[in-house]
Amino acid sequence: MENKTLILSGNDVNKILETYGLNKLMDTLIERTTNSIKSYNPEKTEIPIRSGFNYEINDPGLVEWMPVHKKGDEVVIKVVGYHPRNPVKYDLPTILSTISSYDTTTGHLKGLVDGVLLTALRTGAASAVASKFLAKEDSSVLGLIGCGAQSVTQLHALSRLFDIKKVMLFDVDKTTMASFSNRIAMLDLNIEIVSSSMKDILNICDIVCTETSIDVGTGPLFKNLKTNDHIHINAIGSDFPGKVELPLDLLKQSLVCPDFLEQAKIEGECQQLKDSEIGPDLSELVKHSETYTSAKNQRTVFDSTGWALEDQIVMDLFLDLATEFGIGQEIAIENISEDAKNPYNFILNTVSV
Ligand SMILES: NC(=O)c1ccc[n+]([C@@H]2O[C@H](COP(=O)([O-])OP(=O)(O)OC[C@H]3O[C@@H](n4cnc5c(N)ncnc54)[C@H](O)[C@@H]3O)[C@@H](O)[C@H]2O)c1
Repeated sequence: MENKTLILSGNDVNKILETYGLNKLMDTLIERTTNSIKSYNPEKTEIPIRSGFNYEINDPGLVEWMPVHKKGDEVVIKVVGYHPRNPVKYDLPTILSTISSYDTTTGHLKGLVDGVLLTALRTGAASAVASKFLAKEDSSVLGLIGCGAQSVTQLHALSRLFDIKKVMLFDVDKTTMASFSNRIAMLDLNIEIVSSSMKDILNICDIVCTETSIDVGTGPLFKNLKTNDHIHINAIGSDFPGKVELPLDLLKQSLVCPDFLEQAKIEGECQQLKDSEIGPDLSELVKHSETYTSAKNQRTVFDSTGWALEDQIVMDLFLDLATEFGIGQEIAIENISEDAKNPYNFILNTVSV
């Protein structure tokens, strides 16, 4: 039986993006994410709440695993590290990750792919899908609170669905804010970019993405600030118990839509809400969008904790494109003995033990 594993390194992922095109990739991912959510059936695709290890030594951080089981097909598991001191101390991204896919007929590891860029892409795509159903169609001013790695793909994804004319930035780190224009230059967007205050962002912007590395127990990001009455917020950074970005009064004034309800109640903005205060989840929103059209004219929040389904969608897309373009390396990682019942079979009879 085939026992090769397709490995896509960071370089391979970059090559796929260059070959296919950045915008086309984001468009395809948004489309696949919408379609997969539309056809998502929990009877056929099992997604348990993620689990992991959280620690303070050497630096505060965590390593988590996010599994998804597409019955009769594959198990995809993303292992993701969150280490907010990485950029300053080690010149590394805050989020490091790899995604693996296992064949459920034999358990064979089919693919192993970089998860750093894939996580940023799928998180952007998820916000775009949620915003399509929750934000005003003519949204043109975007606010980014937290201007690190995720903010780049949030802007990219949203710019594919909305005619964004202006981006207003806020980050506690002024250097990060100042470097944002350079980091998005390759997107070739004709937009005005201004540094701003959270007060103005919440007052003016049609769509706001919060993607900060706020520490556990120190949120929310702001209190007692007014928001306009049609604001849509993609809250990305609340993804751990005790880590929240938005104040309770704003959540209570908004239709709050979690990506994955059970997880959001433990790790997302929904930690702060009673069940009765939580709106439809992303799957309900996408499947029955006609029920929620009025949401576009009110305050809405997409509570994005990170859904393993999104990892499976982006992994499958990259495996498909790698096969189409002949990119990546096939390696026989698993030790397959000629005699399935003798793991020592490879040792020649002449070798002494
Ligand atoms: N929901 C998801 O699926 C998902 C996916 C990836 C990352 N995330 C989360 O998104 C957040 C950002 O990730 P990243 O990869 O962009 O990290 P990053 O380290 O690249 O950027 C985070 C930025 O937030 C800024 N920041 C920290 N506290 C702030 C505050 N109080 N106000 C304003 N800015 C503040 C930092 O200065 C930094 O520039 C993290 O919390 C991460 O856990 C969520």
